[in-house]
Amino acid sequence: MSDILRAVLWLCYFAPLVLRNVVRPLEIPMLNSLQTLRTAALAELDQVADETALEAVRIKFLGRSGSISAVSEQMKSLPKEEKPRVGKLLNEIRTAVTAAIAERKAALETQRDAAALADIDVTLPGRPFPTGALHPITQLQDRAIQIFRRMGFALADGPDIETEWHCFDALNTPADHPARNEQDTFYLPDGHLLRTHTSTVQIRTMESSAPPIRIIAPGAAYRRDEVDATHLAQFNQMEGLYVDERVTVADLKGTLEFFFRELFGPDARCRFRPHFFPFTEPSFEIDIKATALGGGERWLELAGCGMVDPAVFEAVSRSRGDDLYDPQKVSGFAFGFGLDRLAMILSGVPDIRLFAENDLRFLRQYR
Ligand code: DAH
Repeated sequence: MSDILRAVLWLCYFAPLVLRNVVRPLEIPMLNSLQTLRTAALAELDQVADETALEAVRIKFLGRSGSISAVSEQMKSLPKEEKPRVGKLLNEIRTAVTAAIAERKAALETQRDAAALADIDVTLPGRPFPTGALHPITQLQDRAIQIFRRMGFALADGPDIETEWHCFDALNTPADHPARNEQDTFYLPDGHLLRTHTSTVQIRTMESSAPPIRIIAPGAAYRRDEVDATHLAQFNQMEGLYVDERVTVADLKGTLEFFFRELFGPDARCRFRPHFFPFTEPSFEIDIKATALGGGERWLELAGCGMVDPAVFEAVSRSRGDDLYDPQKVSGFAFGFGLDRLAMILSGVPDIRLFAENDLRFLRQYR
């Protein structure tokens, strides 16, 4: 085949294709205006200096009545065969402008963050963040609660402002007992008083719950004491009460010996010394010797305890109006100790006032 013939055939075959795909697109005017739009949008984005200006450019081109959106409106009036090319380019441009806006936005944000941080000297040492800690008495109280909880004691509570009946009468305290004296107890004008001990919670708990009872009641107690190194007008106690059928002194001893050994360590020794409390019979004071208590050479009196006096059960029964606490059916033991005194001995603090003064130099040692 001659070259000329080959050229003619080539032209006949390929020319229409070339015309359709290369020449004709250039004839679509909208394609040109779209390219111009793209160039304009990208150029404007380059100039944008802040996020407000960026938003204005976005609205100008991509907003509902923006130029790119306007072109897509005009698509409707295009001849059918032009639609695919214009549509394709329109999409490309929309994507490109959207991406450019996002990119610009990220760049502006980075710029803004950098400006905000410019004045911060990251090489300066950090400022200490002051963290609090529990008060030493609270820490000791929590330890005591943990130990009693393991023996099945539940927490009980009662009011600080009490009736004379809950504080004294129900606890078998005679009318002429010195504790009731105005010089020892804070009385309120209406006849109420600030509880002088947490033993009131024994009565409150038995009034509201049927036996068996196994509770501890930590809380504040108040006495009109002259404030000195060993006395405060408000101090902290922990009360305990166990009531069930056939509770004996052996249960009392076992429970409290276990408690003090857990608290002070296995070398702690307990001595139950006969004593008198109106609300228990027999009653004891508990003395402890332990290395944890400063040398462990001396017996230290730390708690009072005893078997609940039948008179207490009788008072509770009268108040309840039933016989669930009939002293013929139930027996129990009770105990009480001062948390402040215990804390003083445990950490060798010579003055109880330190626990109430809130001097951070003192409290920080217990963090
Ligand atoms: N309430 C007594 C006090 O304040 C402590 C006490 C002693 C409580 C013997 C008791 C107990 O429950 O049985 O000194």
